[in-house]
Amino acid sequence: MREKVEAKRACHIVITAGPTREYLDPVRFLSNPSTGKMGFELARAAVRRGHRVTLIAGPVSLKTPKGVTRIDVVSAREMLRAVEDAIEPQTLFISTAAVADWRPLICANQKLKKSQMSDTLKLVRNPDILATVQARVKVGFAAETGAVAQEAQRKMKTKGLALIVANDVTQKGVGFGTPTNKVDLFYADGRQESLPLMTKRALGNRLVRICENLCS
Ligand code: PMT
Repeated sequence: MREKVEAKRACHIVITAGPTREYLDPVRFLSNPSTGKMGFELARAAVRRGHRVTLIAGPVSLKTPKGVTRIDVVSAREMLRAVEDAIEPQTLFISTAAVADWRPLICANQKLKKSQMSDTLKLVRNPDILATVQARVKVGFAAETGAVAQEAQRKMKTKGLALIVANDVTQKGVGFGTPTNKVDLFYADGRQESLPLMTKRALGNRLVRICENLCS
């Protein structure tokens, strides 16, 4: 895995990783269990292959891989702005982040008192980062809990992706917070491939090579 791609095949890769947080007051938020590991392993693998890598991370406690430019964000809207700023026309965009689909309608400046809170929370939709941005090639992940192929292929089409990497997060050792992952790949040209359970490091290495080929 130490060899690099030829300089002329090296590209700019923007990767999102981790969760977003959507605050309703300074001490409460909506989020999910993503640790950022999958995205950080992809970033590490990409930089070792000689690519220029920008990693846009939600709140996670991982060290930045050597050689990677990291931008920290908190909310989905901040992540969208950071991705838009980072992407250039020739960029390969890989979206591993678990972006919150909704945010509270109102975020209070002060901690809400129980007497001020109602039992229901009004939510609004967050922007879909992957569907919104334009890049040379877009690769998404899909965290599914059933009908994996159907849901992943739907997302691939609606978000305009060259490839979607689907993980069934109900399976042991797969998805959020695990050191390993098992994924199925669905390509825009109709090809499909199932990869065995492996470490996220090994999967990062494998996926970077697959993504390189989508750019050539
Ligand atoms: O971080 P780890 O603990 O290592 O866990 C890895 C992972 C489970 C987070 C990762 O493998 C994974 O599945 N990432 C995608 C999680 C997700 O949000 O999937 P989704 O099916 O809801 O979204 C589909 C795609 O759209 C994703 O690429 C997502 O980044 C993107 N999206 C979703 C919503 C939104 N508002 N904007 C987006 O860009």
